Amino acid sequence: MRNTLASSVFLVGFMGAGKTSVARRLARMCGIACVDADTYLERREGRSIKDIFADEGEDGFRCIETAVLRELIEKEPLLISCGGGVVERQENCKLMREAGFVVHLDVKPDEAAGRISDHTTRPLFQDIALAQQIAAARAPIYAEVADITIDTAHKSVGAIARELQEVLTKKGILCPQQR
Ligand code: S3P
Repeated sequence: MRNTLASSVFLVGFMGAGKTSVARRLARMCGIACVDADTYLERREGRSIKDIFADEGEDGFRCIETAVLRELIEKEPLLISCGGGVVERQENCKLMREAGFVVHLDVKPDEAAGRISDHTTRPLFQDIALAQQIAAARAPIYAEVADITIDTAHKSVGAIARELQEVLTKKGILCPQQR
């Protein structure tokens, strides 16, 4: 069934939370548009995130990430899977909260590590100790920015997508398309 979004929905959460996969699954289930912010960013820049980190460091990447977020917010309401570090900038948190509904997909670094098939593409998930440190520092920010949190532990992509569908429908954000 085709649906529409009343406002943009931002999926945030640590690397390996399943943001991209859940967004794609929900978009397919509901006939709504989704965009992966990191994929959009890589196409826009013509470079991989790994190369951007290598060329310009994390700060350079974060500047581009904010510009991308602003561009995506300007578009029609979308389901947006964000990079895990989007919450590192207060400015981004404010933008997302003002523009739409923020969903935190919660994952513990141990489980995330098992879900990530290729660590070389994620400059900030090179080893579990660093990942745990970053995850601990971000935990309060995810909690603060999110309108809702979904615990993804031991859940399949389909199960998380269905849970999200239910929440968004109840909140009146995901609406059956009027003919
Ligand atoms: C990052 C997460 C990555 C990507 C970049 C930085 C982070 O996205 O944006 O490597 O700081 O957590 P995913 O969360 O989609 O892996």
